Amino acid sequence: MDIKVTLNPNPKAKPTDTSTLGFGKIFTDHMFRWTWDKDQGWHDARIVPFERLSIHPASTVLHYGSEIFEGLKAYRRADGKVQLFRPIENIRRMNNSAERLCLPEMPEDDAMQALLEFVRLEQDWTPADKGTSLYLRPFMFGDDESLGVHAVHHAEFLIIASPVGSYYKEGLNPVKIMIEDQDVRAVRGGTGYAKCGGNYAASNRAGERAEQMGYSQVLWLDGVERKYIEEVGAMNVMFKIGDEIVTPKLTGSILPGITRKSCIELLKDEGYNINERLLPVEELAQAMTDGTLEEAWGCGTAAVISPIGELCYKEHKYTVNNNEIGELSQHLYDTVTGIQWGEIEDKYGWTVEV
Ligand code: PLP
Ligand code: COI
Repeated sequence: MDIKVTLNPNPKAKPTDTSTLGFGKIFTDHMFRWTWDKDQGWHDARIVPFERLSIHPASTVLHYGSEIFEGLKAYRRADGKVQLFRPIENIRRMNNSAERLCLPEMPEDDAMQALLEFVRLEQDWTPADKGTSLYLRPFMFGDDESLGVHAVHHAEFLIIASPVGSYYKEGLNPVKIMIEDQDVRAVRGGTGYAKCGGNYAASNRAGERAEQMGYSQVLWLDGVERKYIEEVGAMNVMFKIGDEIVTPKLTGSILPGITRKSCIELLKDEGYNINERLLPVEELAQAMTDGTLEEAWGCGTAAVISPIGELCYKEHKYTVNNNEIGELSQHLYDTVTGIQWGEIEDKYGWTVEV
């Protein structure tokens, strides 16, 4: 694929103090764009200066929410090189999301080329300090200029990039999570497994309520019975209950996280008893009451491994592991980030140098 590059004549100064980066607040000098329509397919791949978009007021995405996205990171290794973590998984998940939302799928090789060429151009924006990275946000939206409701005939795919620090202000310190028993995020047969903007819009009300009560995010229950644990707002969850590590199984309403998959593979490899299964919230509440819940953590690209120090369910507050970082959470954090930052040998072949 031929990617036309137009360099930004006015590059910005890169941040020097990485401690204030936060998440997704500043953006690099360029963005990748690719256009699709029903007649021509994907065409006009280009890297252009980062700029505002101009879209038609009747554009599909503005009215009917035809939008999907991904999130992955570029990491600066000690030798100065930059690498991605399992990018093919993001491309495949994006194609699954596209299929669900009737947006166009992308040839994997071309999507990978786009990602690599874009990151190569912007790699100087990848910060080097511990815990920092260059967050990549590929996204796609339907852009038909008509109000009819139908599958998309015109779409745009973009990649933007943002140097980031930690997602939660707590960093690796435990976060407080509220179990949501009113709103639901997704139902089976719906779009839960797709990474589409609408899932997040539907989450905001509960998220706001939780935040007002001092919680970082909500933990969703299944949308049918409100009985089984699903996932957190921006991460999957894992619990160590006695000798078993439990993570909710993928039933269609949970995002199949790449960090989740990596944690499962790592833990299995190390001989841990990890099971993907349905986890009733009452079982979790019991484990919190009788003290068999030893650790809980969330896992995701933005959040990395995020220990959970408090869970609130039906106004009961449960402290997990004395609100401290657990041994296993710390071990997973060290292993996953060690591979991502190139500090630990990547025997799985997960990393891709740009
Ligand atoms: N669940 C939700 C709802 C998310 O937004 C994310 C973040 O992408 C995850 C789980 C974790 O997925 P991943 O590990 O692929 O980043
Ligand atoms: C990610 O972890 O990449 C996410 O997309 C989470 C989020 C900020 C929605």
